[in-house]
Amino acid sequence: MFNIRKYVKGLVDTIIKNNGIIYEKSKVISIRKDTSGYKSYTDNGAVKSKYVVIATHYPIINIPGFYFLKMYQEKSYVIGIETNKKLFQGMYINSESPKISLRTAKDGEKDIILVGGMEHKVGAKIELEDAYKELEKVAKEMYEDAKIIYKWNTQDCITLDKIPYVGEFSELMQNVYVATGFKKWGMTTSNVAANIIADRILEKENKYAEIFKSTRLQPIKNRWEFGEMLKETANSLVINKFKEPEEELEDIECGQGKIVKIKNEKVGVYKDEEGKIYKIKPICSHLGCELSWNDLEKTWDCPCHGSRFDYKGHQIYGPAIKDLDIELD
Ligand code: FES
Repeated sequence: MFNIRKYVKGLVDTIIKNNGIIYEKSKVISIRKDTSGYKSYTDNGAVKSKYVVIATHYPIINIPGFYFLKMYQEKSYVIGIETNKKLFQGMYINSESPKISLRTAKDGEKDIILVGGMEHKVGAKIELEDAYKELEKVAKEMYEDAKIIYKWNTQDCITLDKIPYVGEFSELMQNVYVATGFKKWGMTTSNVAANIIADRILEKENKYAEIFKSTRLQPIKNRWEFGEMLKETANSLVINKFKEPEEELEDIECGQGKIVKIKNEKVGVYKDEEGKIYKIKPICSHLGCELSWNDLEKTWDCPCHGSRFDYKGHQIYGPAIKDLDIELD
């Protein structure tokens, strides 16, 4: 167990001490080859460099690289609970399914327990609130007076062979590196990635580089997973788009979101608690899959590669980098 905030602060201090400059609120939206290397463009300007490391969670470049064909995103949930009973010590994770992890944490002066798990693919059509209920059930089996004081969720990139992609981004983009697909083990595997990529740039040997090689072909040889991904993509990209929505604008209750048909077009509609309506085009700005409504967090989620947008259409999770088109009345 370690304190991630202290750890990140240490990294930031070290970068600054070594004359590094960190720009916040400067999302890179494209990377292009330049005469002397690369130019990474943001909305506020561009950065020139010889090397580029794409560590954007899900890679933001589609071609070359084709990472959208060999990885997906999974969501998982955590609850923080308090109890009057004596707490266990340590960190635990089970080996069966569903996967549940347990650890203690400090909340001010108090010790609390974090219960995590209930993973599923982003955009899956399931009752998301059930995930929290299941975690609460696990907590109550151990501590019957368990009281939920926090709950949150996150999403992670998973590769088809479950091993992260670290190293050259593509044979067609020299000096560009990638680190992704940490499968929920980002605090540890990102360190491995940092060492491998630093060694690559400094032209040093690294004995782990081959294991994580990002251009390996094994993931797409995993025929079952690859087939499932293609099926999901085909459904969301083509088949679902031809399905007529079953509900009409009038069927939407306050606090709900749905895809409905308006003037012969499919429209994503969210009605807030006051009855105000927000309309978007329910097509993902990454590669065009049809989005699904996430009732728990009031977002539009993409089942293909896991991009997410708020109910107003603003991008909140990649690989999409653009907002959704808004439907005007
Ligand atoms: S995230 Fe790729 S199409 Fe939506």
